[in-house]
Amino acid sequence: MKTVYLTLFAICFSLCLSSCDNKSQNQKVIKTSDSLLVVREIDTLKLINNKCFSCHNPDLKIDNRLAPPIFKVREHYLSDSITKVEFVNAIWKFVQNPSEELSIMPGAVRNFSLMPKQNFKEEEVKIIASYLFDNDVSSDSWYNKWDSLNKK
Ligand code: HEC
Repeated sequence: MKTVYLTLFAICFSLCLSSCDNKSQNQKVIKTSDSLLVVREIDTLKLINNKCFSCHNPDLKIDNRLAPPIFKVREHYLSDSITKVEFVNAIWKFVQNPSEELSIMPGAVRNFSLMPKQNFKEEEVKIIASYLFDNDVSSDSWYNKWDSLNKK
């Protein structure tokens, strides 16, 4: 009887541990200019899917691409010395009013023309940009996660 209790206890304990773990992996606290937000990864993926991937599709196999895949954008904006705040602000600055002066991807402007100005919410773009800073969207593991979300 004692061992049954012990086993039950062990199961409950490990379940609790793994659920706590999942929580911290899937939720991110994001600081935008004036608020602290807790955003689940799945919600951020949906947001970026809706707002950016119609043009910046991560799938390299699609025809008639409208813009560079998102990992190319990340690659250009990321450097060893850039902080998360600088990265997020640089992306927000370009996206709210795209111009050749602000562009650091002249090849993309030549190939696809300048990104059209769209009415994005600051908070949403900053959530997306924070996510891009934190996640290697060029990795296979990220691609598979995104791909499985689309198949749901
Ligand atoms: C209607 C298509 C379209 C959508 C939607 C779109 N983009 Fe773009 N974007 C482009 C094109 C085309 C380029 C390449 C030309 C350029 O750099 O301006 C681009 C380039 C960029 C660049 C690089 C700018 C540079 O030249 O330095 C950033 C950053 C960017 N997009 C961010 C975003 C984010 C974030 C979203 C979603 C919130 C988004 N884009 C949605 C079309 C789009």
